[in-house]
Amino acid sequence: MATKANYFIGLMSGTSADGIDAALVDFSADNHSDRQHQCKLVHSLFIPFDAETRREITSLYQPNSDEIQRSQTLDKKLATLYADAVHQLLEVSGVAKKDIVAIGNHGQTIRHFPPERERKLPYTLQIGCNQTLAVLTGIEVIGQFRVKDIALGGQGAPLAPAFHQFLLGEQTPSVVLNLGGIANITYLTKDRVMGFDTGPANGLMDAWFAKHHSHGNYDCDGKWASSGSVITPLLDTLCAEPYFQGPPPKSTGREVFHLDWLSGFVNLGQYAPADIQATLLALTARTITDAINSLPSVDAIWLCGGGRHNSFLIETLCKMMPAKRIANIDQLGIDGDALEAMAFAYLAFAYKNNFCSNIPAVTGAKKSTTLGVLFLP
Ligand SMILES: Nc1ncnc2c1ncn2[C@@H]1O[C@H](COP(=O)(O)OP(=O)(O)O)[C@@H](O)[C@H]1O
Ligand SMILES: [Mg+2]
Repeated sequence: MATKANYFIGLMSGTSADGIDAALVDFSADNHSDRQHQCKLVHSLFIPFDAETRREITSLYQPNSDEIQRSQTLDKKLATLYADAVHQLLEVSGVAKKDIVAIGNHGQTIRHFPPERERKLPYTLQIGCNQTLAVLTGIEVIGQFRVKDIALGGQGAPLAPAFHQFLLGEQTPSVVLNLGGIANITYLTKDRVMGFDTGPANGLMDAWFAKHHSHGNYDCDGKWASSGSVITPLLDTLCAEPYFQGPPPKSTGREVFHLDWLSGFVNLGQYAPADIQATLLALTARTITDAINSLPSVDAIWLCGGGRHNSFLIETLCKMMPAKRIANIDQLGIDGDALEAMAFAYLAFAYKNNFCSNIPAVTGAKKSTTLGVLFLP
């Protein structure tokens, strides 16, 4: 007899501020022995943000005027966009609303200030009102996943490693490399899981691209970067940023790695814009390579996130790590664009089933715990 479906929806809108990834996942198939089949992606979709919404988000990454009004109206606007994404997902998948157990909503990070040596009161802020989303969809929402980990002294990030372990626990020793606005790695071995943010990926490149182009939101396939030459002294200066040398646990965001950070080092006007783009891509590749080379042994690197479509970035990574197998996670039958959204469906599934979903070895939290807060319709 077929097992009854156990549907969860995961929603992710990452620091690239490109749009909403929504994934409908069925966690019912416990009759399968391998994990990948315990968690079946039923359907996923991506809804891009329009230019105005994108601006509203990115303008909140750094201190500016009238932030309370702007963040709170955006909080409600994002909830309506998330609800639209849920309704579209239900429509295309043909699954009834009543059959969804819960939505796991990451929300939109606008500030992330995790514990650091000098910081006494860390915080992380994701907007996209969970309560409004629950009311608009009529479905239970689990949100604010990062808050409890921070309360327990952790970074509140990255959270996807627990899901990567659930999904790929057998594929060891390997790395899952997520190329979002920020890059993060999960290191899976037989007896432990590690993970941290390596630094900027698409976020800085997107921002520099947008400054110099009136069309398009990103440097498609890294073509612009490949037309420039890496400015080695600038690259060396950027690589000296203390974040890259610091030991894990560590996490970061676009409140640290932005264009003002870049222009703090050097007068950017003295270089050709394409050379800066080439340097930012090289920075991404070098910081990722250094992070992976610091791990004891790695057989394979599985790529996910939008940055894996940047063919020049991947080519550069392959050249820098010639001995490693680097491949899209899609080759394992896992949708690399939906993976992060699936991770938040998983965190909602963990909440509803009362099992721990943070990994203290990754985030530095004092203990394992179930992450998330429940919002009823
Ligand atoms: N063909 C491509 N070439 C270069 N970059 C791409 C391509 N496709 C997607 N991207 C990058 O991926 C980003 C979206 O990645 P995503 O995984 O959604 O990040 P986040 O989780 O931060 O939202 C885009 O902003 C863009 O920078
Ligand atoms: Mg995205």
